[in-house]
Amino acid sequence: MIKKCLFPAAGYGTRFLPATKSMPKEMMPIVNKPLIEYGVDEALQSGLHEVCIVTGRGKRALDDHFDINYELEHQIQGTAKEETLSGIRGLMDECTFSYTRQREMKGLGHAILTGETLIGDEPFGVVLADDLCINLEGDGVLAQMVEFYKQFRCSIVAIEEVPAEEAHKYGVISGEMIKPGLYRVEDMVEKPAEGEAPSNMAIIGRYILTPDIFDILRDTAPGRNGEIQITDALREQCQKGLVLAYKFKGARFDCGSIEGYIEATNYCYENIYKAESKTVREIEVNEESLEAADSEA
Ligand code: G1P
Repeated sequence: MIKKCLFPAAGYGTRFLPATKSMPKEMMPIVNKPLIEYGVDEALQSGLHEVCIVTGRGKRALDDHFDINYELEHQIQGTAKEETLSGIRGLMDECTFSYTRQREMKGLGHAILTGETLIGDEPFGVVLADDLCINLEGDGVLAQMVEFYKQFRCSIVAIEEVPAEEAHKYGVISGEMIKPGLYRVEDMVEKPAEGEAPSNMAIIGRYILTPDIFDILRDTAPGRNGEIQITDALREQCQKGLVLAYKFKGARFDCGSIEGYIEATNYCYENIYKAESKTVREIEVNEESLEAADSEA
């Protein structure tokens, strides 16, 4: 089955300058956890434990995040604060991490092709970390997609309905519904000009790709914005065979924009952080009362 997940993470994040001048945009925190970690969590939950990251210059903080920080960990050892690292430690125990660098920014398709060296000849997931997806009700988006992959063994893109005036920001598909929420893609267009979107179903940053996509990408000419687009490669793949689009369950935030980032922050604070920090606080209170009991004895 699918084991690998590719994270294209070489982009500059110019919409967040100056914050992203020396810090990777994927390290921007949503409350207290960087975007990339949410993505890796989602991949692991769907059984994809080989994490492959396409980085670029100035992105070393990404490698460091998924490694041990001896000094810090030594300092907080044995205190309640250790609990705050349990999530990332769990990821580090259960995942492997490999990295390659994209030297030139030539588009998402080019970034994915750069990852071929880490992926090889097998199907894989792709997560664009700045699309944050949260499903409080059940499986994450990638896990939902993996279930369909098991059934159909073809490339699958996640889609969401967007207002017509937003379509120009996305890859947009048209297709025929084959079961509720699942479409056989007939066409797709990267960032259509006004009035040219084939539907209101926009691709969001979750993909499952079959490895023949690499050969297609190698021959894909630069498209929208002069960049090699994964949408163009998938369009060719759907003309040759089957590509599915799946209207996922859950919430998605465009954390590549300030508005989406703030929305995601508020959502995660209310729905995730408050619940988790309650647990940490309970541990601290327990520790404090144990210490008090010790000193009384
Ligand atoms: C990329 C893809 C686009 C997709 C979007 C989802 O665009 O090229 O097809 O709809 O991600 O976030 P970007 O946002 O990198 O410009």
